[in-house]
Amino acid sequence: MPTVPSDTLHRLTKAICRAVGSSEREAALVADHLVAANLAGHDSHGVGMLPLYVQSWSEGRLKPNQHAEVVGGKGPILVIDGHHGFGQAIAFEAMELGMAKAREEGAAITALRNSFHIGRIGYWSELCAEKGFASMHYVNVVDNNPIVAMYGAAEPVISTNPYSAAMPGRDGSPMVLLDMATSKIAMGKARVAHNKGTPVPDGSLIDGEGRPTLDPGCMFPERTGALVAMGDHKGSGLALICELFAGALTGGRTLQPEHPRSGGAVNNMLSIIIDPGAINDVEATTREAEAMVKAAKGAKVRDGFDQILLPGEPEAIQRALRSEKGVDVDETSWQEILAAAGTAGVRSDDMEAILQH
Ligand SMILES: NC(=O)c1ccc[n+]([C@@H]2O[C@H](COP(=O)([O-])OP(=O)(O)OC[C@H]3O[C@@H](n4cnc5c(N)ncnc54)[C@H](O)[C@@H]3O)[C@@H](O)[C@H]2O)c1
Repeated sequence: MPTVPSDTLHRLTKAICRAVGSSEREAALVADHLVAANLAGHDSHGVGMLPLYVQSWSEGRLKPNQHAEVVGGKGPILVIDGHHGFGQAIAFEAMELGMAKAREEGAAITALRNSFHIGRIGYWSELCAEKGFASMHYVNVVDNNPIVAMYGAAEPVISTNPYSAAMPGRDGSPMVLLDMATSKIAMGKARVAHNKGTPVPDGSLIDGEGRPTLDPGCMFPERTGALVAMGDHKGSGLALICELFAGALTGGRTLQPEHPRSGGAVNNMLSIIIDPGAINDVEATTREAEAMVKAAKGAKVRDGFDQILLPGEPEAIQRALRSEKGVDVDETSWQEILAAAGTAGVRSDDMEAILQH
């Protein structure tokens, strides 16, 4: 398994995006996001997405150099179309627009529709927290077939519909950052398990007959099984709310069966961005939140646990480790990324220079 320095992954991602026609800025935004996902430990949403992006570009479903366009809204609401552009650039622009609106109004709601894959949703919470905003984000995934079975169902009707929320801290990093798929595991985690030949966690998959299984082989290369919604009936309910808020409220699309499935990975996202200073004295809010977080972290630890980790801490730990030692990329993913670079048109001498650097 190659261990690749993050700056090599960054250069490689930029070269692939430039080869499919992205501007320098767009290529840098995609590379910043994907490599940050790898550094946070989420390989499922890192550079391993590049083969899908290149394939979608070659099929005309992912369009380079699009921009987040405000197409409607009222008061604090901005309705934004992503025109099937690179989600890492589209959602970045949507968040910039949302934060500018929240500065004026005290809060903003961005209804982003029709963006190609927007990656790791926690990145958007982090971006808001960096500028002092609290935020929450409801996301759905359309254009592809459903892959997640709701509580009690033997077949999928929705997707992995991620949810993220963050409380801003003092230093520009979030005090707490929750970022999760509403399926028990993200699809990318099943892909990574399949590539590594390892089982998935208990209770995260059902096979084609609706029976629990540990084998990610029921999802690749042909999907016969389904991921299971997290948290039984409660997680299943949140997954459906993500589908409705992101898919219906934004004016995008849900995964209801009448829509065509063209095979892409289009995300819609409803984001709520709040300026804490519009509600209360920021110092008082921060002190109150810090006291609560300290109590949560300091609670007596249960048998079988070493410590209490708060949402966002596993990613911070991984970031510290991986920034130092590089990112382990499984051999299958690595070969697929190199093949995608070839398909995109990265020249072999450029490729050699990137990898030797
Ligand atoms: N763009 C899309 O369509 C899409 C779809 C699904 C998921 N995703 C992304 O996939 C990524 C992975 O999602 P996931 O659900 O597999 O994440 P995960 O299960 O690894 O983590 C979920 C949350 O739990 C926290 N956490 C993890 N381990 C913990 C522990 N031991 N103690 C306390 N807290 C802990 C994490 O900090 C995180 O906030 C996310 O970044 C998500 O945004 C994107």
